[in-house]
Amino acid sequence: MCGIVGYIGKKQAAPILLEALKKLEYRGYDSAGLAVRSDGGEVNVIKTQGRLSKLCDRTQNGTAVEGTCGIGHTRWATHGEPSEENAHPHKCMDGTVTVVHNGILENYRELREKLVRNGYTFYTQTDTEVIADLLDYYYKKYKAGPVDTIARFMMRARGSYALAVLFKDCPDDIYVARKDSPMIIGAGRGEYFIASDVPAILKYTKRVYYIENGEMARIGRESVEFYNIDREPVEKHCVRVKMDENAAEKGGYEHFMIKEIHEQPKAVELTLNSYLNGEYVDFSDCKLTDKFLQTDEIVIVACGSAYHVGVVIQYVVEKLARIPVRVELASEFRYRDPVLGKNALVVAISQSGETADTLAAVREAKERGVRTLAIVNVRGSSIAREADRTIYTFAGPEIAVATTKAYSTQLAVGYLLALEWARIEGRLDDVQCAAYIEELRSLPQKIEEILQNKTPIQKFSADHPTMKDVFMIGRGIDYAICMEGALKLKEVSYVHTEAYAAGELKHGTISLIEEGTLVVGVLTQRGVSEKTASNLEEVRSRGAFIVTVAFEGDKIPVEANGAYTVPATDELFAASLIVVPLQLFAYYVSLQRGLDVDKPRNLAKSVTVE
Ligand code: G6P
Repeated sequence: MCGIVGYIGKKQAAPILLEALKKLEYRGYDSAGLAVRSDGGEVNVIKTQGRLSKLCDRTQNGTAVEGTCGIGHTRWATHGEPSEENAHPHKCMDGTVTVVHNGILENYRELREKLVRNGYTFYTQTDTEVIADLLDYYYKKYKAGPVDTIARFMMRARGSYALAVLFKDCPDDIYVARKDSPMIIGAGRGEYFIASDVPAILKYTKRVYYIENGEMARIGRESVEFYNIDREPVEKHCVRVKMDENAAEKGGYEHFMIKEIHEQPKAVELTLNSYLNGEYVDFSDCKLTDKFLQTDEIVIVACGSAYHVGVVIQYVVEKLARIPVRVELASEFRYRDPVLGKNALVVAISQSGETADTLAAVREAKERGVRTLAIVNVRGSSIAREADRTIYTFAGPEIAVATTKAYSTQLAVGYLLALEWARIEGRLDDVQCAAYIEELRSLPQKIEEILQNKTPIQKFSADHPTMKDVFMIGRGIDYAICMEGALKLKEVSYVHTEAYAAGELKHGTISLIEEGTLVVGVLTQRGVSEKTASNLEEVRSRGAFIVTVAFEGDKIPVEANGAYTVPATDELFAASLIVVPLQLFAYYVSLQRGLDVDKPRNLAKSVTVE
């Protein structure tokens, strides 16, 4: 994880670096730092532990640091505790090289030992200091310049990295390289920007170069040159990105999370409309033919909330299309030597398109000759580029670490795919398909109605300030919704929450139920709601405080302490509506506890390390 920025041009670098880092704080926020080269050639490094605001204070928003070329970093600690000393940038021993790094150098111990044998001393616990020293070692040993030095490093390093490097002897250049960690270069007039992600530089330019895996670049004030690992020049074209800079601002909301919750009706509508043509699903923009989609085995791979989308979609696809679907955590899939039929289709779901495990799962599938389809939000991201086909969601930039609108748009794409698979399998005629599509088109309005009914959730959160353990239970799709609801509550409010398949609770977990334990029962799947209701009765009789969440108008076969309803929809699409009150609940509990809703402790939005 971590966010990297860089600037070289005619303006003062530090204020620009800080401004860009603010847009990358979602990638990590336990320490931050800058290295700026003064006109005298000195590289000044300033680092602080804690949020970026501390670095802004220390440098008077960058005005106290002089120089027109620099690099910056916001950290999510992997090697070494979050401290000023371990914060980036890191210099080699004599200051020849200064580095910021995103990723993990897996063989850092072995390289560190080699460097110690060659007289290097280490002052931090980071893998990045090893990179700085190794670059210094190759630079001095082979005396063939920065590109050669970085290429040697890339051949020797295992793991993932995006690097921005200042060489003391090259005052007018920044060097960068990447492997499995994202990095882009923005082009201005007489200036260039470096960032881990496009929104960081949108304020300055919309012209972007994407650096591919295993590539390097030399960035000067007037030009940029790209190289492959053999040090050969690589031709690259600048792309004009279509992104609204203001889309990543809070727009009057107190937090990004609540703003993004409120953006769901629009995001879902936009995503649906992008792939609907009247009464038909139309993925032709994504070059998705029936031949490509035809499969006898679907394997969904994803992490976090995107995995929970996969669990919902598994139920929907199996119900509608009767194709077997497996959902796997990408981090497991990539290492467990999975059995994949020749005609399998691997579907990767990812908001960022950069999650290391999901990307690795896509590569694993491709290596085995299996087709890959990605559902991704961030245009041009690694997963989007590497999968055989990509369907983009239209959530827009999502800044809050806890995902909301991306989850909802991923569901929307999943439903459309389910309809396509059902049509291809001959299990859905035009009339049935049109009916489902009509129902899908009504979802944004129904989400809007839920957003107008926030008060009971706000009040409930305020009335239950001391909740300690929460259980969310349901069956089928209701269980899948609980998984996402529980994750939301855990990540932003730090309340221990578990999602349970309602029928499974009595096989052990029920022993955790005490007087007053909150149990949320989701009851939208009518064929099994009575069963879930019986499970709720079981916990109620052991002292649990029961709250049900269900469709308006449905009879709830259990006497609950609280009940919340959402507008009714087809049971298959229940997740799109039920998730909204659960997101709101997590948000308000977090607020109630005075926590940092948008940047919960220990987390980062885009997990580009294993
Ligand atoms: C992180 C985020 C989650 C997200 C997961 C997968 O853990 O905090 O909200 O679901 O990564 O991210 P992706 O970008 O692949 O959807």
